[in-house]
Amino acid sequence: LEKNNALREAGAHVPTNGFDGIGSSVSELFAQDLRPICTPRVLPLDFRVAKKQNLVRKSSSIVSTIVDERGTELLYSGQTIHSIVDQGMGLGGTIGLLWFRRQIPPAFARFIELCLVVCADHGPCVSGAHNTIVATRAGRDMVSSVASGLLTIGDRFGGALDAAGQMLLDSVDRITPSELVVEMRKSNTRIPGIGHRVKSVDNPDSRVQLIKDYMRTQCETVTYLSYFEEVAAITTSKKGSLILNVDGAVAASMIDYMSTFMSLDDIRSLVDNGLLNGIFIVSRSIGLTGHHLDQLQLGQPLYRHETDDVFYG
Ligand SMILES: CC(C)(COP(=O)(O)OP(=O)(O)OC[C@H]1O[C@@H](n2cnc3c(N)ncnc32)[C@H](O)[C@@H]1OP(=O)(O)O)[C@@H](O)C(=O)NCCC(=O)NCCS
Repeated sequence: LEKNNALREAGAHVPTNGFDGIGSSVSELFAQDLRPICTPRVLPLDFRVAKKQNLVRKSSSIVSTIVDERGTELLYSGQTIHSIVDQGMGLGGTIGLLWFRRQIPPAFARFIELCLVVCADHGPCVSGAHNTIVATRAGRDMVSSVASGLLTIGDRFGGALDAAGQMLLDSVDRITPSELVVEMRKSNTRIPGIGHRVKSVDNPDSRVQLIKDYMRTQCETVTYLSYFEEVAAITTSKKGSLILNVDGAVAASMIDYMSTFMSLDDIRSLVDNGLLNGIFIVSRSIGLTGHHLDQLQLGQPLYRHETDDVFYG
């Protein structure tokens, strides 16, 4: 009894009729105090169910507009790969769908393929191939060796296309070719797309000639290419090596082709985003992969540069 009284004083619910009253005490207590606490929580609607009922929409973390892989057949800019193959759109047409997000004129697709062929490689001595060869001979895998070559692409090597394109888009309607040469000299800036280490007026670059020939026979406008040729006519009159180089010829011709089906604003935006250098990157990846395989097939040892080829100052 003492214990029960003490428990009651301490706030416990103690049945008045001993142990037999526990059941009714618990039931009373549940009815009075606990019921509200135990009201089951209403769970929010399951997301998948709500989505099925079209009640909610999940915001997307990726927006992508070029490829749809969800259906039975892969779509590149809305075209099934079957129709791309059946129409013979080739690599140029595929680049059109994935870079320009549309079907490009077939002559432009063939021009892109021409650029991919002429820029695919330029021998083992140029920066990109040299890096790939050294990396391969140091035992690196294909991705590392090719990436090491690709990383040399920049304003001086193979990456002058973007800068040349930007310069042309800024200059053609604003100044004459001779004014451009003066402007660049005053700002002490090399004209991107002009100049070559080996090629010159006396040792012309056949790749550039191939591009010019294609443009003159296949493209309805050569405004940017002609402008750049006039620039080169001025620079070569000063120094024979300051020819229109392959980067410059490809950049000018790409803009001419793009201007046949795109607005100038759209061209500017794509050029600013690096589309022209993309042509060189895709193309030269073919050659760099070739150099990697070639070195492995030849079983070439670790490369070490000859000390007699270094001037120790
Ligand atoms: C390609 C390139 C690196 C070759 O350079 P190079 O043979 O080493 O040329 P040099 O550095 O010996 O320059 C020779 C002279 O021509 C000038 N020159 C070289 N390229 C020039 C250019 N694009 N515009 C104006 N002047 C140029 C140099 O200032 C130098 O003048 P100087 O004799 O009065 O000093 C260089 O022409 C260049 O930077 N071109 C622009 C970038 C480009 O188009 N790169 C892609 C190459 S495929």
